Amino acid sequence: MDETSTDHIVTVGVLGSGIMGAGLVEVAARSGRTVILRSRTQESADAAIAKLTSGLGRQVDKGRLEADERDAILGRITATSDLHALAECDLVVESVVEDLDVKKELFATLDAVVEPHAILATNTSTLPVVEIAMATSHPDRVCGIHFFNPAPMMKLVEVIRPLTASDDTIATALAFASSCGKDAVEVVDRAGFIVNALLFPYLNNAVKMWEQGTASIEDIDTAMQGGCNFPMGPFALLDLVGLDTSLAILDALHTEFGDPNFMAATSLKRMVAAGHLGRKTGRGFRAY
Ligand SMILES: NC(=O)c1ccc[n+]([C@@H]2O[C@H](COP(=O)([O-])OP(=O)(O)OC[C@H]3O[C@@H](n4cnc5c(N)ncnc54)[C@H](O)[C@@H]3O)[C@@H](O)[C@H]2O)c1
Repeated sequence: MDETSTDHIVTVGVLGSGIMGAGLVEVAARSGRTVILRSRTQESADAAIAKLTSGLGRQVDKGRLEADERDAILGRITATSDLHALAECDLVVESVVEDLDVKKELFATLDAVVEPHAILATNTSTLPVVEIAMATSHPDRVCGIHFFNPAPMMKLVEVIRPLTASDDTIATALAFASSCGKDAVEVVDRAGFIVNALLFPYLNNAVKMWEQGTASIEDIDTAMQGGCNFPMGPFALLDLVGLDTSLAILDALHTEFGDPNFMAATSLKRMVAAGHLGRKTGRGFRAY
C-alpha cells in the first residue's frame, strides 16, 4: 500500500477521446477529481462525453449507480479541443494513437502549457516512455500510467518508470492509481511492460494458427475460453483492443526484442490496411 498523498492531484487532464481516453475520464471523475477531456475536435470530445453520459445512464437504470452520483461524476467533466485548457492540470494522462512521433510532439507542446509541478503520463501500451519524457523540459515528471480496457472495469494499472523519472513522480502515479481503486504495479520502461509482453505473442500466434487452417476463429476463441478459463478468446480480445493498436504493439515489441514471436501475423496487417480495426469500426476478426 502506497502512503503517498494525492491530495494535490485535484485536476486531471485526459488527452484523446478514443476507447481508452473516454474510459480514463470516467475513472478520474469517479475518483472525485475535476477532469478535462481534450480531443482534437470539439465534436469528438462532445461525442465521448455523450457516450459516457448514456453509459452511466444505463448503470442508473440497472440500479448500479445513484442518479445524483451520476450527475456529480458528469458535473466534474468538461470537454474541449483547446490544449491550453489543460494549463491548471496537476496530472495529464495522454491516451492518443499508439504512435511515438505523435506522442512526442504532443508532450513537447503540452510541456509549454502546464505548470512545472504537473505530472505528465502516457497510457502507451508499449512505446519507450523515456523518449516521450525527453520531448519535455521536465523528464523527471513524466512516466507511464497504463490502464487496461475497459478502464472503468479493469483493476490493473502498470506504472512505468523511465530512467528519467523521479521517485516522487512514480510514487504519486502509484498512489493516484490506488486512489482510483486500481491495483498498481511498477515496471521498468521496456516494450510491452509486463502484460503486453506476455500477452501479445499469444494473441499473434492465435492469428497465425488460424492462418495455417488449424481451426476457425470461433473454435480457437471457444477453446481458449473453455480450456484456459479465459474470459474471452484471443480474437475477441484483439477486436476489443483494436487491430491498429494491436499491430502497433507487436511492431514496438519486435523492434525492441527482435523475437520472431512478435512479428505481426500477415492477416493482422492486411485487416488494419483495410480499415477493419475491430469493435471500434464494427468489423475486425468478427462483425459487430
Ligand atoms: N485499446 C486498448 O485496449 C488499450 C489498452 C491500454 C492502453 N491503450 C493505449 O491507449 C492509447 C489510445 O488507444 P485507444 O485504444 O483509445 O485508441 P483509439 O483508436 O480508440 O483512440 C485514439 C485517439 O487518438 C486520437 N488521435 C489519432 N491520431 C492523433 C493525432 N495525430 N494527434 C492527436 N490525437 C490523435 C484519436 O482522435 C482518438 O481520440 C494508445 O497509446 C494505446 O496503446 C490501448
